[in-house]
Order: sequence, then C-alpha cells, then structure tokens
Amino acid sequence: MNRKEFIRGLGAAACAPALALAAGCEETGKGEAAAEKGNPTFLQLAKDRFSVRYYAKTPVEQEKIDAILEAARVAPTAKNLQPFQIYVLKSEEAIAKINKLSRCAYEAPVVFLVCCDRSKAWTSPFDATDSSGVMDTSIVGTHMMLEATAQGLGSCWVKFFNPQEVAAAFDIPDNLTPSFLLDVGYPLKGTAPNKMHFERRAVKDFAVYK
Ligand SMILES: Cc1cc2nc3c(=O)[nH]c(=O)nc-3n(C[C@H](O)[C@H](O)[C@H](O)COP(=O)(O)O)c2cc1C
Repeated sequence: MNRKEFIRGLGAAACAPALALAAGCEETGKGEAAAEKGNPTFLQLAKDRFSVRYYAKTPVEQEKIDAILEAARVAPTAKNLQPFQIYVLKSEEAIAKINKLSRCAYEAPVVFLVCCDRSKAWTSPFDATDSSGVMDTSIVGTHMMLEATAQGLGSCWVKFFNPQEVAAAFDIPDNLTPSFLLDVGYPLKGTAPNKMHFERRAVKDFAVYK
C-alpha cells in the first residue's frame, strides 16, 4: 500500500485538495498564528486544529519549537512528577530515520518523540498496575499540539510505530518508553481536514448527567 492509499484508508475522502497538491506543489501553507487572528478562544483553537498529513518543506522557526516545548513544560502531571522526556527530531538524519520507522511521520520537518519515564511516573496506591504515565504524556502532548495550532502550524499525533524499534534507533534509555510522535510543520497549501475530522458524536451521546 502506498502513502496516498494508506492516508485514504484513514478516511481521507475530504482530503482531495491535499492529495492533488501533494503531487507536485511544495508551496508553504504558512498559516496565521493565533495572535494574528486576534487570539481566538480556546474552543475555537481546539476546533481549528486538525490532523495534517502533508507538510511543506518550510523549516519551523526555533521560536515556535521553543513555544511548543514551553507548552509541554507547563503541563500538569500526577504529583507534579513530570515523567517525560522529549526528543526533537529535526536533523536530516533523524527525519529520514523516523520516516523509515513510521509511515505516519509524513515527512514533517519536525517530529517530537514524546517518551514516558516509567521510573518517575506516579503509581496508584489503590492499584500497583495503574501508572499515571500515559495520562501525563497525553496531557503534555495535547498542550504541544494545541500550541502548534496557536503558532499557525499543522500537526499529527502518531501512534503507528514500533516503540522498541524507535527506542533502539534513537538510543533511548531503558527507563523511557516512546509514547507517541507529534509531527509538526507548515501544512502544504490547501491541506484540508480529512473525513474523520468531522465525525464527532453529539454531546448528548456521551454526557451523562446524574
Ligand atoms: C492517540 C492517537 C493516536 C493517533 N495515531 C495516528 C497515527 O498513527 N497515524 C495518523 O495518521 N493519525 C493518527 N492519529 C490522528 C487521528 O486519526 C485523528 O486525530 C482523528 O481521526 C480525528 O481527526 P482530526 O485530528 O483531524 O480531528 C492519532 C490520534 C490520537 C489521538
């Protein structure tokens, strides 16, 4: 299965403009940062975000990478143990490597590899198998993803990779588990949300008042 077929399999019917552009266009889809849009509300920012699977080659400015890492830094974690480590993959070598290991790195110019530090994560006194690690790194990732949107960047949260292979390829110490990748970059101009972006349940279908 080639890359386009794979993305289509993710429900990308509404992604036709992106697919057409991906054929040859390398134009930057440099979007407006939230501040330039007049600081949208949090909900507007959350609604503006969608998974981007086609990126321009335009490099991401270091200030924007710094802002995304700052958003990670201030994320809440259980008992404030901050059990995470983030690898910023942006060298040509690292990007080539991650694209070999995951078809969902989508040739983004920056890929954050967010790892959970199992040796630091909080464990529930009520259940020794219940660690906060997955929750902690997910909150960190959500902060990062939304800060990327606020910076006018596109992103895609990615779980489609073998954590052992990724850990070996990037010399990740044993106490760290690669949790997810966050691809980040400027979307190719014309990139649109795919079909799945619009498939959300109604609030009445999940909110249960008691
Ligand atoms: C935990 C998690 C894992 C995901 N893994 C992948 C992935 O491996 N590859 C991919 O293309 N998208 C991945 N996604 C993106 C989802 O497919 C996407 O968020 C969902 O379809 C809704 O679309 P939207 O993000 O455009 O709103 C993942 C998202 C989450 C939250």
